[in-house]
Amino acid sequence: MSPKATAEEVSPQVALRRALSLFPTGVVALAAVVDGQPTGIAVNSFISVSLEPPLVAVCPARTSTTWPVLARATRIGLSVLGADQEQTARSLASRTGDRFANIDWRATEGGAIHMDGAALWLECEIRHSFDGGDHEIVTLEVISSEAFPEVTPLVFHLSQFRGL
Ligand SMILES: Cc1cc2nc3c(=O)[nH]c(=O)nc-3n(C[C@H](O)[C@H](O)[C@H](O)COP(=O)(O)O)c2cc1C
Repeated sequence: MSPKATAEEVSPQVALRRALSLFPTGVVALAAVVDGQPTGIAVNSFISVSLEPPLVAVCPARTSTTWPVLARATRIGLSVLGADQEQTARSLASRTGDRFANIDWRATEGGAIHMDGAALWLECEIRHSFDGGDHEIVTLEVISSEAFPEVTPLVFHLSQFRGL
């Protein structure tokens, strides 16, 4: 172990975040048109939950300023980002600027936004919200889906974007 690593002291939260970063995930864009504006965030807290009824879940942070706006949407689009969509992920996570400026996206009639070039599109409606500490655990019912199995997904691992 390097001297830097042994001398470093970190908070339990930072240590836990680092430990959990060993778990590889995909990256999902959550987006919808709300009050006429494209609105969205990138998340990696996405899981499949149930087939009957068809449910997935995400965990928005309680500090998120965008989630409460997105939660007002009738339908929310989920896009499992492709390996070449790292910039889309970064843009949807950015604190400044127009998150959709350099992204090719399309909206459904219900207002769900999907990213062109993603591996999977889901059009969802929020079902329930549960306490998840400093995050919410939100289940969403999948209303429709479109898969692009030829697209290699983006992977987030050790706080870095990678391919499979
Ligand atoms: C790879 C990656 C995964 C993320 N996962 C989550 C997540 O699961 N939940 C969450 O609330 N924010 C997550 N974020 C942060 C959001 O994308 C966004 O930065 C955050 O919501 C702050 O913006 P806001 O105040 O506009 O909501 C993630 C960001 C990145 C880059």
